[in-house]
Amino acid sequence: MCGIVGYVGKNNNSLHVLIEGLKSLEYRGYDSAGVAINDNGKIKIIKSEGNISKLENKLNMDIKSNLGIGHTRWATHGKPCENNSHPHRVGKITLVHNGIIENYEKIKKYLIDCGYIFKTDTDTEIACALIDKIYNETNDKLLTMKKANEIIEGSFAFGIIFDDDMENIYTMRKDSPLIIALGENENYIASDVPAILKFTNKYILLEKDEYAIINEKEVKVYDNNLKEIEKQVNTYEGSMEVAMKNGYEHFMLKEINDEPKVILDTYKQFVNNDLSEIIDNMPDLSKYDNIDIVACGSAYHAGLVGKSLIEEYANIPVNVELASEYRYKKNFCNEKTLTILVSQSGETADTLAALRKAKNSNTDTLGIINVVSSSIARESDNVLYIKAGAEISVATTKAYSAQVLMLSLIAINKSIINGNISKDEAKDLLKDLKKLPDDIAGIIDRKEEFDKVAEQIYDNDDVFFLGRGIDYALSMEGSLKLKEISYIHSEAYAAGELKHGTISLIETKTPVIAIVTDDKIDEKTVSNIKEVKARGADVTLITTEELNKKYDKSDFYDRKIVVPSTNRFFQPLLTILPLQLLSYEVAKLRGESIDQPRNLAKSVTVE
Ligand code: G6P
Repeated sequence: MCGIVGYVGKNNNSLHVLIEGLKSLEYRGYDSAGVAINDNGKIKIIKSEGNISKLENKLNMDIKSNLGIGHTRWATHGKPCENNSHPHRVGKITLVHNGIIENYEKIKKYLIDCGYIFKTDTDTEIACALIDKIYNETNDKLLTMKKANEIIEGSFAFGIIFDDDMENIYTMRKDSPLIIALGENENYIASDVPAILKFTNKYILLEKDEYAIINEKEVKVYDNNLKEIEKQVNTYEGSMEVAMKNGYEHFMLKEINDEPKVILDTYKQFVNNDLSEIIDNMPDLSKYDNIDIVACGSAYHAGLVGKSLIEEYANIPVNVELASEYRYKKNFCNEKTLTILVSQSGETADTLAALRKAKNSNTDTLGIINVVSSSIARESDNVLYIKAGAEISVATTKAYSAQVLMLSLIAINKSIINGNISKDEAKDLLKDLKKLPDDIAGIIDRKEEFDKVAEQIYDNDDVFFLGRGIDYALSMEGSLKLKEISYIHSEAYAAGELKHGTISLIETKTPVIAIVTDDKIDEKTVSNIKEVKARGADVTLITTEELNKKYDKSDFYDRKIVVPSTNRFFQPLLTILPLQLLSYEVAKLRGESIDQPRNLAKSVTVE
């Protein structure tokens, strides 16, 4: 949540780097933005409500400056407006902040008593004043940061400029991510690697309770005892292209089109000639007799698909929990529990807190993560990386699909261990797995067919998604995708539950998207679809080639989307595509900001 970028360098390029960096970080928040630069020895701050292009319009990009910090905001304390946007400035301190300061009211009271006056509604201004106050007392910048760290509770990463030092950027972090990137005669700070990929791919990860001083020539990092420490320099493996639109109108569409490759790259880490290779190439799952899956948002929905598959085929119980609930409730894990944390960013605050809670309960933890070296990846006992590459669109598509694939592979792995998948079955599964990228590409090629369905539903206020079992889990993701980018109210319902209240909302022409891919319960779902059809609903059926043979001539739907049939482990990866493409097109027809939906952010690093 919120993006930070900072530059210090001989090339006096700060404005250019800050704006490019902020554009790449916009997925972290985009309700306001600002920069602070060294303008001939004085701090110049320019801020704007709205996205980075609005800020850019206010800037004179010809200004040369050796040092600056920038920020794109996702409002937590105080509404999104120019006044509340970062950088904040109090006394000698200019600062950008990512995170939440939990005890800011207490600190504010103290600072008001000391004579400070506050002009914004933010917690960040309080941190700025606190650092100013401590610096006035200590006149020692490192010590100031350490003392501030001792007082401030919550999560934070700060980029700081001290008025009396226009050669160095200072930075410190607690739970919010921060990297220091290394260039030629110039160095950078950022919340995430994509922000600096245009300039360098070398970076250092700042850890919790570490401090750094960065100038054009060198970077010095200190631990919590203020002892200088050596840090490993990492090289980002991904290419810049993955973080670009490549001619697509929106990142979301580009990222859906990445799915065939993402699926291939993800499974080929574990499997080549024989599916049982999976057992050797993944962490050993043999000791576990129950699994907790903890995640937020779409990652939680991926977890629900995983639950269905693991329970059905590996025959062990799986508990799927929202991380924000898990962290505050009683859990029943033991040494035979594997707790799986699913997170694209690896930085989601609730999922990170859930991981730490699980570790305190002495259960083994496994992260399913996209962003390499992110906090959850580093702190989990084991990590499996999905190979989605940078995902920029706030509404996840390719990362969700790769999470689903990873959980399917875990289900297969555990099913082989438990003796529930035979050698022959494993061979067939491998054939299907290898066919997946082409099948996915084939569905994406049918986009125009789904666009026609979008035309039928985009002008409605409410849409319902129905399904049973795994199709219910997919309905939930389809419904979330639609509402988050098109702002149409939508609900996903377990098909059998509808008649316990919600069916009263079905009127003539209410759009219902019904998913029927499971041949064990298709007839049950079809009777529920008939119930809504009888009440006038406009039904779009999503089904498989196999089941279509049975329902081809039926009259309980108004139109249908037929996806190729594959085995149950991989079917969700095909079924989800029309739902992703449908949401995209509906949002487009409604003229919404597809990659940056209102009020949302991609990486939710606050509770
Ligand atoms: C945000 C994003 C969602 C994502 C969720 C969890 O709400 O908008 O797309 O599913 O966070 O994020 P994570 O990075 O932990 O997968």
